[in-house]
Amino acid sequence: MEQKKPYYITTPIYYPSNKLHIGNTYTTVATDCISRYKKMRGYDVKYLTGTDEHGIKIEKVAKEMGLEPIVFLDGMIAWIKELWRTMDIDYDIFIRTTYDFHEKVVQKVFRKLYEQGDIYKGSYEGLYCVPCETFFTERQLTDGKCPDCGRSVENIKEEAYFFKLSKYADRLVKHYEDNPDFIVPSFRKNEMLRNFILPGLEDLCVSRTTFKWGVPVDFDQKHVVYVWIDALTNYITSLGYMQENNADFKRYWPADVHFVGKDIIRFHVIIWPILLMALDLPLPKQVFVHGFYNIDGEKISKSKGNLVDPTGLVERYGVDAVRYFLLRELPFGADGNFTNEALLQRINFDLANDLGNLLSRTVGMIEKYFGGKLPSEHKPNKFDDELFKTAELCIKDTEDNLDKFMFADALIAVWTMIRRANKYVDENEPWALVKDESKKPELAGVMYTLCEILRKSAILITPFMPNTPAEIYSQLNISGEAQKTWDSLTENALLPKEIRVAKGKVVFPRLDIQKELESLAGEKTAQIPKEKPEPVIKAAEKKPEIGIDDFAKIDLRVGVILECEKLAGSDKLLKSKVDIGGEQISIVSGIAKHYSPEQMVGKKVAVVYNLKPVKLRGELSQGMILAASDENGNLSVIITDGEIGSGALIK
Ligand code: ME8
Repeated sequence: MEQKKPYYITTPIYYPSNKLHIGNTYTTVATDCISRYKKMRGYDVKYLTGTDEHGIKIEKVAKEMGLEPIVFLDGMIAWIKELWRTMDIDYDIFIRTTYDFHEKVVQKVFRKLYEQGDIYKGSYEGLYCVPCETFFTERQLTDGKCPDCGRSVENIKEEAYFFKLSKYADRLVKHYEDNPDFIVPSFRKNEMLRNFILPGLEDLCVSRTTFKWGVPVDFDQKHVVYVWIDALTNYITSLGYMQENNADFKRYWPADVHFVGKDIIRFHVIIWPILLMALDLPLPKQVFVHGFYNIDGEKISKSKGNLVDPTGLVERYGVDAVRYFLLRELPFGADGNFTNEALLQRINFDLANDLGNLLSRTVGMIEKYFGGKLPSEHKPNKFDDELFKTAELCIKDTEDNLDKFMFADALIAVWTMIRRANKYVDENEPWALVKDESKKPELAGVMYTLCEILRKSAILITPFMPNTPAEIYSQLNISGEAQKTWDSLTENALLPKEIRVAKGKVVFPRLDIQKELESLAGEKTAQIPKEKPEPVIKAAEKKPEIGIDDFAKIDLRVGVILECEKLAGSDKLLKSKVDIGGEQISIVSGIAKHYSPEQMVGKKVAVVYNLKPVKLRGELSQGMILAASDENGNLSVIITDGEIGSGALIK
C-alpha cells in the first residue's frame, strides 16, 4: 500500500492567562483549514496546538486568584479546549508545557546546549517587559517602550545563562538566502534582517531567577528556563524528541509549516532556527506569518475593552459563518479589520445570497418541476461547457491559493464558481423551459448540472466550513463518500441521474443587518463605539476649473501598505512600503499624528503614482498617499473597499 505523505503543521501555543479573542482564534482556524485541506488531499497530517503555561505572568495571575498555578491552569485549559470545540478545530496534538515529558526534554535540551558550550553563565542587566517576558536592548525599544506590546519596561539585574545566538548568525542568513520560502510573506524576512540580524545578533538571556513558575535548570535549580526556549521546544517534544518513543519525531519533523502571528516572528525565525541548529536538527520548512485582526483600526487589547468573543458570534450565526468571515476578510499576510457590520454583510451577500440561494433555488426547482426527483433522461445545453470550464479553473485556483495559504483568494475562487452557477440559472430560464413539455430533458439537464456544481462547492468549502457541506449533501441526497472526495472534483457527472432531493433548512438565513447590529451592540460583543466625524465647518475655497486632460495626467492607483514605520527624528512622518500591482515603492507621508504604523499596514489606499520622487528628511518618497483633512485638524486616508486589488486605476 502506498504510504501517505506526512505533513506537520502547527499553531503557536497560547498563553492561558490571556482571554482568547477573535484575533487569536484566527490563527487556529487558519491552521485548521489547511490541516483539513491537506487531509482531504491525502496527506497524513499532524496538526498541533496547545498552551504555553510557564512564566511570571501565570504565577502572578494565579496568586491574585489565590490558586496554585496548576489549578488555575487546569481551569483555563478546559475553557480553551471548549473554545476550540466551538470553533470546530480538529487538532491532532494538544500540548501543555506543564506536561512532565515536555519539561524533562526542555531540561535535557538546556543541559546539552550548556555542555557543548552554546549556553554559558553570565549576569544580566537589562530592560525587561514583564507581560512579554522578554529582555530588550535600548536600541530595540520603541519610544522607550516594549516594541511588541508598547508597555513600559523594567530595569532588572540578575545572574543568568546566555545562549550564543551570535555564533549562528551567518548560518541563519545563509539559510534565509538558500531557502527563499522559509519566511512567508518575504517582506517579513527583510524586517528581521534589518531590525535584528544585520545590526548584530546579541546573545540571548535564557534563564530567570526572579520567579519560580518555570522549568528548573536541572544542574542549577535557582534558575528556570526562559519561557520562549521552553515554549518553542514544544514543537519537537510533542513528537517524542529525546524520548523513548520517537517514531513521530522521525516521521513528522521537520515541520512543513509553523503558522504564527506577526508579533512573534522573531522568536520563530531567529531563536527557534538557531536552537535547532545548535541541536543539529533540520529547520522547519516554512514559517508563515499572518497579519492581525484589528477592531476599527485599533489593536485588540484587554485594556481597550475591545475584545470580541468568538463564542457569542458562533451562537448567533453558526461556526461556519464566523470561520468563513475570518478567512475571507483578512488579505494575504496583511492586517484587516473586524467589524460586526462586515461580518453581517458577508453572511447576507456571500453566504445567503450566493451559496444559500443556489442550494435553495436548485432544490426548490427540482421539487416544483419534477416533484422532487429528476427523470433519468437529461439533455445537455449550450451553457454547460462554459460553466464546467469556469468550475475547473476555479478549482485549480482554489488549490493554488490554499497551497500558498492565501485563504481569501481561495474563497474568492470558490465564490466565482458559485456566482457563475447562479448566472447559469438565469441564462437557462428554467421557468420558461418548464412550459414546453419537449424541453423537459433539457430542464432536467440544467438541474443536474446545478447539483454537480453544488456538490463541488460543498467539497471546496469543507476545509473552511466543516458543517455546511453535510446540509448540502443531505438536501441533494448525496451519501456516497466517493462523491465527496477532493479527487472527485474533476468529475462532472458523478451523481446518479435520478437525483431525489429533500428540502432542508435554509443554510444561511438572511439577516436584518440593522437589527443585528443594535442587538450585538447591546451584548457588548461589539466594538468600541465609532465617533461620528464632525462636519467640515468651513469648506476650503474651490480651485480653478481644469479639463479632463489635466486630470488624466495624474496616475491614481490603489496601493496596499506592506510595511510602515515612523521616520526617525520626525513626529509627523510615516514611511510606507506600498505595493502597486507588484511594484513596491516607498512613500513618506505626514500622517503620523493620525495613524500608527500598525494601523496603516494592510490598508488599501489611494496613491498618486506618477508624482516626481522627492527626498523628505533624507528618505526617498516615490508617490503620495491621498488623505482628506479639515480645519478641525482631522485627517483620514482614503481607503478602498471590496475586492479591488493593488495597482487598480482610480479614475
Ligand atoms: O504568542 N489577530 O501566545 P498568544 C490575529 N504563547 N492574530 C492574533 C491577534 C490578532 N489580533 N492577537 C494575537 C503567544 N494573535 C505565545 C506563543 S509559540 C511557541 C508561543 C495571535 O496567546 C498571535 O500572533 O499571545 C499568536 O500567533 C497567537 O495569537 C497566540 O498568541
